[in-house]
This record gives sequence, structure tokens and C-alpha cells, in this order.
Amino acid sequence: MQVVNIGVLGLGTVGSGVVRLLKDHEHKISSITGRKLVVKTVVVHNLEKKRDIDLTGIKMTDDINELINDNEINIVVEVMGTVATAKKYIELLLRAGKHIITANKDLIATYGSELAELADQNKCDLFYEASVAGGIPILRTIVNSFAADRIIEVKGIVNGTTNYILTKMSQNNMSFTEALKSAQELGFAEPDPTNDIEGIDAAYKMIILTQFAFGINVALDDIEVKGINGIDLEDIKQAKGLGYNIKLLGIAKLVNDRISVAVGPVLVPETQPLSAVQNENNAVLVTGAAVGETMFYGPGAGELPTANSVLSDIIAVTKDIVLETTGNRFNDFSREGKQALPDEVKYPYYISLKVRDRPGQMLKITEVMTELNASFHLIIQSEYDDVNARVVMTTHEMSEQQIKEIIEGIDNLEEIEVIASYRILSE
Ligand SMILES: NC(=O)c1ccc[n+]([C@@H]2O[C@H](COP(=O)([O-])OP(=O)(O)OC[C@H]3O[C@@H](n4cnc5c(N)ncnc54)[C@H](OP(=O)(O)O)[C@@H]3O)[C@@H](O)[C@H]2O)c1
Repeated sequence: MQVVNIGVLGLGTVGSGVVRLLKDHEHKISSITGRKLVVKTVVVHNLEKKRDIDLTGIKMTDDINELINDNEINIVVEVMGTVATAKKYIELLLRAGKHIITANKDLIATYGSELAELADQNKCDLFYEASVAGGIPILRTIVNSFAADRIIEVKGIVNGTTNYILTKMSQNNMSFTEALKSAQELGFAEPDPTNDIEGIDAAYKMIILTQFAFGINVALDDIEVKGINGIDLEDIKQAKGLGYNIKLLGIAKLVNDRISVAVGPVLVPETQPLSAVQNENNAVLVTGAAVGETMFYGPGAGELPTANSVLSDIIAVTKDIVLETTGNRFNDFSREGKQALPDEVKYPYYISLKVRDRPGQMLKITEVMTELNASFHLIIQSEYDDVNARVVMTTHEMSEQQIKEIIEGIDNLEEIEVIASYRILSE
């Protein structure tokens, strides 16, 4: 049987899983592809590090040139992370005619188009199924199974760390700090969790999902990004009392044929399937004009789930090599798209306030709302501390522009402080 040689760049969580699965599933893979897939060389940073994996017959090096200059290597799997270094290496590898598979969402969200162009020029494949929602095969599903449908909305829980934190807060009454610590102890959060808890990791994944679902390129600056950093346990409890779970959602949707992409905490009704997605799991809900609502659920990270997505890319590239059809883009759908305007994206909102407990305060808040033509659905007042009350409101549907002005207006009032304002998802 002919051999396809693979180079692996990075042997951490995902890289180890890739080497392991290629070996464990060797026979099935060769019967599907008609080729024997062999990991020939692995590039790491630290050659001295002990590896808990069988590396018999694999060359270990810390020199990227061992991949670039090896004419026998057909495919390189980049699972080392970083943006600048990974970009530089992938460019060199593409120019050397290597097909690339990567799990690097930061890189693809930022430089995906540029790298896809370079892959085209070199007749190489560039696949990145594992970059969004780890083990859930969502990108190839959108490319293949939604090819003929018109996608209206893609929304979901695409960051396992924040979903774990929010689940622990909701189920175990933990504060944000306690839940983050627990996530770090269990390896669900990095020592520096900034990208996860500030919503940036989810935003990168929404950039890639938006490109696949709508064919539209958006940049990080085009996205309204709110994280869960410091989210108040009282808001989670209050939302629960109203029949909602707070989830960090990415939402990309067409509004009057313009695109709106946002990441932030959202009140999800308990009856909505995303509400039931617990712990570090991910789920993506794709709504098509023809098919309606579909949901894809599974592990968003982890050694073997992520490696499985990488392997599906390896098999896709190998089939392209066999059929001599390499050099086609992962996603061919591309069109011009304008950003939705702030006054056309509408949701009901949840607002919580710390209000000095004295007469006349509600009147001041009502005046701000009335001036901006917005109205409450309900108002609940409870004790905050000895001198302040906690006021929680849900509103009728209002535009992003309106909520921004309302929050500014309320924040300008004396003795009233906005704690949180979150979108509410409809049933
Ligand atoms: N972990 C997940 O569940 C998951 C899920 C989806 C996507 N991803 C993405 O997959 C990628 C890898 O993640 P990971 O969790 O596997 O990372 P990781 O455990 O930190 O492993 C990174 C690997 O890359 C190597 N490396 C780092 N810098 C290098 C350099 N300059 N030259 C050569 N090798 C270098 C490291 O070498 P040493 O071992 O010698 O230090 C290590 O083996 C990232 O882009 C991540 O966002 C991860």
C-alpha cells in the first residue's frame, strides 16, 4: 500500500491525541483512504520533555526545516498554537507544497483568508475542522450538508471553559472566582484565562462560523464581545428564578440581509435546548431557511475529541491526494456582506441595578426609559445591602442602539449603578 507521510508540529494535548488515534485506528483509516498514513516527524519546542506516548519509528526534532525540506512529507498538522510563529511556519510549509491541517482558531480567524489564498496558489489543502467546537464536526457539516440551504442564524456555546464556570455557578452556587479556580484545577481553564473569560476565544470561533455559514468575512473589531469576567452569582440566581440559564452565546445572524455577530452572556429559557448544555460541553444551533433549526452537541475540547476532528481533515486531504483534487478551499462560499445597523438588531433585555434605597428612584429610571421609547416587562426589587436595593428589570424588545442609550442614561443617574445588561433569547 502506498504511504502518505505526515509531519506533526506540536505534541501537546491535541498533537498527542493525533499520534495516538492514527496508530489506534490505522486499519480503518487505510481501508477508507487506500493509503497507509504514517507519522514520520514530530516537531516540538523542548526535546528533553518526557512524553507519555509511543513514539517508536517517529523522528523527534525541534527544527521546523525537517518538515519544510522533507520531500516525503505530504501533510503537516499544526497543533502548537500561537499566531505569528504558526503563520510563518504554515506559509513556509504551503510554499513547500505541504497540505496543512490546523486546530488554531486564533490564527484562522485572523489570517484565514490570506492563508487560504496561499494554499490555492500552491494547490494545497488547508483544513481546520478542530478550530471550532473541538470534537463537534460543525464546519464540514455546514459546507456539505447545508450547501443548498440558506442559513439564517448560527448560535451556540462554543467555549467550554466559560460554560463550565457558568454551570458551576448555577448548580453549586459558586462565585465566579471559585468556579474559575475549579476550572483551572481540572484543566478546563488556562493559567491565564483571559481569552476565554473575556469572550475572545468564542469570538474567534464565531468569525470562522460566520465565514462558513454566510460566506461573509468579519473581523474581531466588527463583533460586539462581552465576556463573563466577574459575572455576579446573584444575576445567575435571579435569571434562574425567572426561568432562564445564563450562557455565554455566540450569535451570528442575518438581519435585513446584513450580518450581526455578537458574543456575550445571554438569558436562555430553560426550555431552549442550549440551556441544557452543561459543564465543558459545546453546542451549535444552525437555522436554515429550508431545514429549520438543527443542533450539534458534543465535547468542545480535549485530547481525543479534538484529535478526531483533526483526523477527519487528514482523511479528507488523503482522499484529495488520491483523487488529485487538492487545492480546493475548505469553504468556497463567499459574498460581500455589510454589518447590521445598531437599530435593526432587536432583543428583549435583562438589566440589573444597584440602587440607593430611597423614594423616587424608580421614577428616575422610568423617565430614562420613557424618553427612549422603551418599556419594562417586569421589575423586581430585593435587598442588596443595608443602604442599597437590587433592582432587576426585563424589557420588551429593543434595539442595540436603544439599550446602549438606556444603560448610558441610567449610569448617569446619581445613586444608581448598572450591574449587568444581557440579551434574553426568545423561546
Ligand atoms: N487542547 C484542546 O482541547 C484544543 C481544542 C481545540 C483546539 N485547540 C488548539 O490546538 C492547538 C494546540 O493546543 P494544545 O492544547 O494541544 O497545546 P499544548 O498542549 O500547549 O501543546 C503545544 C505543543 O506545541 C509545541 N510548541 C510550542 N511552541 C512551539 C514552537 N515554537 N516550535 C515547536 N513546537 C512548539 C509544544 O512543545 P513542547 O511539548 O516541547 O513544549 C507542545 O508540544 C492550539 O492552537 C489550540 O488553540 C486545542
